[in-house]
Amino acid sequence: MASARKRTAILISGRGSNMAALLEAAAAPDYPASVALVLSNRADAAGLARAAAAGVPTAVVESRLFRGDREGFERAVEAELARAGVELVALAGFMRVLTPGFVGRWEGRLVNVHPSLLPAFPGLDTHARALAAGVRLHGCTVHLVSAGVDEGPIIAQAAVPVLEGDTAEALAARVLEQEHALYPAALAWLAAGRVRVEAGGRRARVEGAAEPPPGRGALLNPWPR
Ligand code: GAR
Repeated sequence: MASARKRTAILISGRGSNMAALLEAAAAPDYPASVALVLSNRADAAGLARAAAAGVPTAVVESRLFRGDREGFERAVEAELARAGVELVALAGFMRVLTPGFVGRWEGRLVNVHPSLLPAFPGLDTHARALAAGVRLHGCTVHLVSAGVDEGPIIAQAAVPVLEGDTAEALAARVLEQEHALYPAALAWLAAGRVRVEAGGRRARVEGAAEPPPGRGALLNPWPR
């Protein structure tokens, strides 16, 4: 019997490189999620053409047509999700804050990738802010979405070193490479029902996930010598 792959919508606002990484992962027959829809809040999002080229249904709900009416925007988004029979929603560079109502209706089925090691640097310009703060490790987070912006139980994180002379662009590229590996893994865990939320909804645990191999359990920067 074919196992039921979770029908997933990817919500984007722009380039869509994380979307492309998820599409590539979902092309494997044993991946536990299928991409039923790519939806953008902007018609000019470059990711839409990439999705269409991959044969994935796309939809646009222009948020600028819903100024001051976030519920109306979300109703239109949810109509598209319902039409596509969506079970999971993956935000991938989706630059709209969702209302508590939307988040509540999709609780436990709504996931986001954020370009920092949350809870450090929620919000925008994370790479420039990490450089300004002088942190030596930076990275990305995949988390379930809860009502607060860039909050919610953390499923997985990847860290990268901040290097001497880094620019925000160089650091962003180093983090993005990790996003492209981390997000497909985390979405697979969620789709396979392996993510358990505990501690009153504050923490997530991945069942059966491997721990880092011995000797690789710590990333130090600078490296001691
Ligand atoms: C990614 O770095 C993602 O983490 C970030 O936007 C970029 C989108 O790139 N998301 C946020 O900042 C959400 N608050 P992509 O369109 O190439 O995936």
